[in-house]
Amino acid sequence: MKLVAKNLTLAYQTGKNIIDGIDFEIEDHTLVSLLGPSGSGKSTILNMIAGLLTPTSGEIYFADRAVTKLSVAERNIGMVFQNYALYPNMTVRDNIAFPLKIAKIAKNERKQEIERLAKLVHIEDQLDKRPGELSGGQQQRVAIARALARKPAVLLLDEPLSNLDAKLRTEMRVEIARIQQATGVTTIFVTHDQNEAMHISDKIMLLSDGVIQQYAAPNDLYDKPANLFTAKFIGDPQINTFDKAEALAYLQNYFAKQVKTIGIRPDAISTIKNSSSVELPVTLKSYSKYGPEQLSRFDFFGAEFDGENVDGISEVEVGQPLKVYVPASAIHGFDDSDRHVLALKPDLQDLTSSIKS
Ligand SMILES: Nc1ncnc2c1ncn2[C@@H]1O[C@H](COP(=O)(O)OP(=O)(O)O)[C@@H](O)[C@H]1O
Ligand SMILES: [Mg+2]
Repeated sequence: MKLVAKNLTLAYQTGKNIIDGIDFEIEDHTLVSLLGPSGSGKSTILNMIAGLLTPTSGEIYFADRAVTKLSVAERNIGMVFQNYALYPNMTVRDNIAFPLKIAKIAKNERKQEIERLAKLVHIEDQLDKRPGELSGGQQQRVAIARALARKPAVLLLDEPLSNLDAKLRTEMRVEIARIQQATGVTTIFVTHDQNEAMHISDKIMLLSDGVIQQYAAPNDLYDKPANLFTAKFIGDPQINTFDKAEALAYLQNYFAKQVKTIGIRPDAISTIKNSSSVELPVTLKSYSKYGPEQLSRFDFFGAEFDGENVDGISEVEVGQPLKVYVPASAIHGFDDSDRHVLALKPDLQDLTSSIKS
């Protein structure tokens, strides 16, 4: 089911808008992440969609139906929270059965539905256990099964993986994507972890201070950040930024209008020149390798920046000057308001030679 928010605003009595008049559409059958730092308004948006919080103004639609004034029960949503919120004294079977009993589903049909859901989330062997006997990952599987029991119009997941260790988090994010695809249920997944959001989402809504910074496909946030906040929040290691003196002046030459900050992602740095690349004269400051991950640090007119998996860099000695190359499309300019500037000069090869002469 498609979900639409129009001019959605939430303020508490004391003052400023926690959610500040946002508009968005979430397409049917997709998985969208609400991503942002702690306090950016992710849970507030989710709770307004669920009906747990009433917006100060604005509207929410499930398909064409305005739900803004409907209760939680009238909206038919499935919800999973960070703490599993399972009934500890009930078996897994009874936990999943609970919403079906409330809905007065007949016993026979209930039994079939429990089996279908248990298979879907891979806990068919655990049905007679109690939540306390399960691992954190298994408990979240049960919580997801229970949330899906009533075939919800939308599945809402608020940081469901935050209590799990790193390995289980990775396993469970793959599982959530699989379950979402298997059921086709429109899903909203809240996380503060950009890596998690990048892996799991059809689209990411990046939030800061109750405002949408960018709402796009994961690779678009990475490759075409709309502003400096997005450029910095997405990507690890973080994007290199240049905002001072000579380094900025050198890079500024590639732009047709004045920019305040220039950003270049560490993985865009290469020792290999190609037709669209821009040349940077640098000195290798340091080099390290941990398993498959190789990081290098460069001095560039007194500004330092990182390179990630720079091909050929292991052949270079620390302290040695060299030239590195960046595709022109990977040089991001930002204006005084930190908005992305689309004003790279067209002929970068000519420019490179004019800078050198
Ligand atoms: N009951 C409340 N009264 C006043 N402010 C609140 C209340 N609940 C949450 N907030 C504020 O709303 C902002 C957004 O909170 P929240 O949506 O929980 O953020 P997130 O889920 O992104 O961490 C925070 O600044 C938080 O302090
Ligand atoms: Mg939250």
